Amino acid sequence: MTNCDLILRRARVVDGSGGEPEILDVAIANGRIAAIAPTLSLTAHTVIDAEGLVLAPGFIDTHTHDDTSVIETPEMLPKISQGVTTVIVGNCGISAAPVRLNPDYQKIGPPDPMTLLGRAEFFRYPTFTAYVDAIAAAKPAVNVAALVGHTALRSNAMDRLDRAATDAEIAAMRADLEEALHAGAIGLSTGLAYANANAAPNSEVLALAQLLTSAHAVYTTHMRTETEAILDAMQEAFDVGREHHVPVIVSHLKCAGIDNWGRSGKVLEAFDAARTHQQIACDCYPYAAGSSTLDLKQVDPRVKITITWSSPHPEVAGQTLAEIAEQWSLSQLDAARRLQPAGAIYHSISETDMRMILAHPATMIGSDGLPHDPRPHPRLWGTFPRVLGRYSREEKLFPLATAIHKMTGLPAARFGISQRGLIRENFHADLVLFNPETILDTATFTDPVRPSQGIHSVWVNGTLTYTSTGATGERAGKFLKREVSND
Ligand code: ZN
Ligand code: CU
Repeated sequence: MTNCDLILRRARVVDGSGGEPEILDVAIANGRIAAIAPTLSLTAHTVIDAEGLVLAPGFIDTHTHDDTSVIETPEMLPKISQGVTTVIVGNCGISAAPVRLNPDYQKIGPPDPMTLLGRAEFFRYPTFTAYVDAIAAAKPAVNVAALVGHTALRSNAMDRLDRAATDAEIAAMRADLEEALHAGAIGLSTGLAYANANAAPNSEVLALAQLLTSAHAVYTTHMRTETEAILDAMQEAFDVGREHHVPVIVSHLKCAGIDNWGRSGKVLEAFDAARTHQQIACDCYPYAAGSSTLDLKQVDPRVKITITWSSPHPEVAGQTLAEIAEQWSLSQLDAARRLQPAGAIYHSISETDMRMILAHPATMIGSDGLPHDPRPHPRLWGTFPRVLGRYSREEKLFPLATAIHKMTGLPAARFGISQRGLIRENFHADLVLFNPETILDTATFTDPVRPSQGIHSVWVNGTLTYTSTGATGERAGKFLKREVSND
């Protein structure tokens, strides 16, 4: 072949493997990377002089709650504007599919924290196959790979969620999970910290996770706790992987709560000990604050908590829980009760712990962004450029090639996403071109809906989707079914 769609000349190629950058020409044809060489003597429809810019594989957001966003807002601006070309949805035990909300939930809203994925009417995929079809019809700008949420399965099978599932209910959940794995789900997620899954003993999770082995699927978990008993919670997660020989991915690994600060060394020690005999990884977002629905267990007057939304009191969004409690002459706990259901940002993580976890070699980047939040945590729009600009370039926490590996080659390998995550001939042309001197997040806690700076161009499956002037309007994302084992 001599004629290509696109040639990028003299790009500083950081290929996603973690290896040293190289100055190369890269040619793209028919949605794939057609050729890579120091100098290519090919012709192309478009030629870009990429001198001084970094060319990397498109970023994989390993931890998202974009399940319904990829269908409702398929332009996916918060992600594509960061260079993200693939999102993994279905984390923390909650997924849009397979879900059949009963009439009660239709009326009062989906069970917590499925509310993070949108209102009841957003849940209209009774099977995983229906969800795959809906994504094909919506044509999102990014590729989508999907986990199945344990809490979502519980809401299908059980009349109440504050107890363990019976054998018959487990059988029903297994049938749902089996359908999903057959239709291309990449794994199972749990959110055992949340009240609607917390009563599930690990035996319930094990009974479901058994199906993952032959499907070569993964187990991801928002662990039962991230505070004092975090080491026990990690062991519980690792047990699932050991029992069924499945890879375990710990979601948003952190030491949460002031009493738990300074324990990242101990946590990573336990993590590494387990890694010597089973496959374990984790994801992390680069902020010292978390965000989710408002959880009474996390209310602590020493922690700054900002309310991002409240169904009964929308007018208080943006204020701190301390301010609201004072206005109402209530304790913070009583004020939090009155705000329910609500969303919050918790400034409850130590920056030092977060950096240690972020820098760990098994840590992948995941935004955990909440796209339905009217005042979202800035991680939704800023995670990836923040890792590249702030933590790699400015703080020198790790080299650029390591930062990119954490968001490309490593997640592709850990989640079994084939032919993506690396710049290799014949791989799909998911690519991001950016200025390494200027790339940076601009979203902040006070002004969270802002695109990053320094992104030059983003291609998804070879299609130019975003440039420094904004979205091109093209949407070439695909649903990525699980294809291969990841060992
Ligand atoms: Zn979570
Ligand atoms: Cu999450």
